[in-house]
Amino acid sequence: MTFTLARRTQRMNSSAIREILKVTERPGVLSMAGGLPAPESFPIEALRWACDQVLSTQGAAALQYATTEGLPPLREWIARRLSQGAWQVEASQVLITTGSQQGLDLVGKVMLDEGSPVLVEQPTYLGALQAFAPYEPVFKTWASDAMGPLPQALSKAEPARLAYLVPSFQNPSGHGIADARRREIALQAQQSNTPVVEDNPYGELWFDTPPPPPLAAHAPEQVIYLGSFSKVLAPGLRVGFIVTPSGQHPSALALRAKLLQAKQAADLHTPALNQRIIMQLLDSGFDLDGHLDTVRARYRDQRDAMASALAQHLPRGCTWQLPQGGMFFWVMCPDRIDTLQRLPLALDAGVAYVPGASFYAGSAPGRSNTLRLSFVTLSPAQIDEAVARLACCLH
Ligand SMILES: Cc1ncc(COP(=O)(O)O)c(C=O)c1O
Repeated sequence: MTFTLARRTQRMNSSAIREILKVTERPGVLSMAGGLPAPESFPIEALRWACDQVLSTQGAAALQYATTEGLPPLREWIARRLSQGAWQVEASQVLITTGSQQGLDLVGKVMLDEGSPVLVEQPTYLGALQAFAPYEPVFKTWASDAMGPLPQALSKAEPARLAYLVPSFQNPSGHGIADARRREIALQAQQSNTPVVEDNPYGELWFDTPPPPPLAAHAPEQVIYLGSFSKVLAPGLRVGFIVTPSGQHPSALALRAKLLQAKQAADLHTPALNQRIIMQLLDSGFDLDGHLDTVRARYRDQRDAMASALAQHLPRGCTWQLPQGGMFFWVMCPDRIDTLQRLPLALDAGVAYVPGASFYAGSAPGRSNTLRLSFVTLSPAQIDEAVARLACCLH
């Protein structure tokens, strides 16, 4: 028997990160590879209670098929939370997704054709490249300077089908885009009529000051915003959301309708049980902001531990910036160091990281001297040991 696979499967790759994660399960390996939120930060007791409440008081509804859009009170809660500042979101704009990863896939499915130009930062989130690639777009480098992606790259003359960015504590670079640049990008998106996908799973994980308002606040009719409970509560819940562009323009309404149909075809709806557990938690006086403060304090300590370890151990010529939030350090090594080549050496030494080349798209030459380190999974003492082991492999 031979199976003929669809052409699009040629564009599917297993994520380099997931492959590395398999190896990091070897005993003794200190892994800074996975972007796994600290398990100690999961509100397990509160979720156990909420789960129990849901099953005892609304068990039948929680276990029944549900609407594709998502649980109405949860959509309302999300709209209210996002509307605290300059951006006004209505519940009707919110589509609950199975993680924001599904949001990326749905956007790709309804917006991309073969050859559609998609602007991406370099480096960018690998999972977005994986989600978009099967729809056969052409990835284009979104040119940038020290302040982030350049607004003028959104061009009317050479329109991108969409432009994708992670403006707060990006994965993998850890960088954030300041308010002025966000406003310029939003303005240029309006003037060039370019749809922007703003992926914001890390916005709540700030250490000193919250990030500026999202781009969507400045261009609500242009931006497709993705959010998630993965880094706020727990990724295993697989609950995220898309905020579709505002306004009653026929194309905005068509986009919303098509995203809904695509989701219906993909999984009918995101697990109703999980949505109800989250809603029960949020409704029952659970102090989400207090919980986030605890997570931020933990991650800030781990970030500081990694900053000291990097300064103490890494060889001269390695550079990095201090992330102001999120989960990652992005390290630039001297040109002669190929971090993919050195990975087996590192694994033998009992340490894992993600080589940076995987985060570059299309024809852009991947910077083979870069690597991503997550600081949220190991304790400060383990971080010091892990970075010391890494340094030996880079010397
Ligand atoms: C930038 C970015 N977007 C989206 C996701 C997907 O998150 P989830 O599907 O858990 O919401 C991740 C996960 O690490 C991410 O880093």
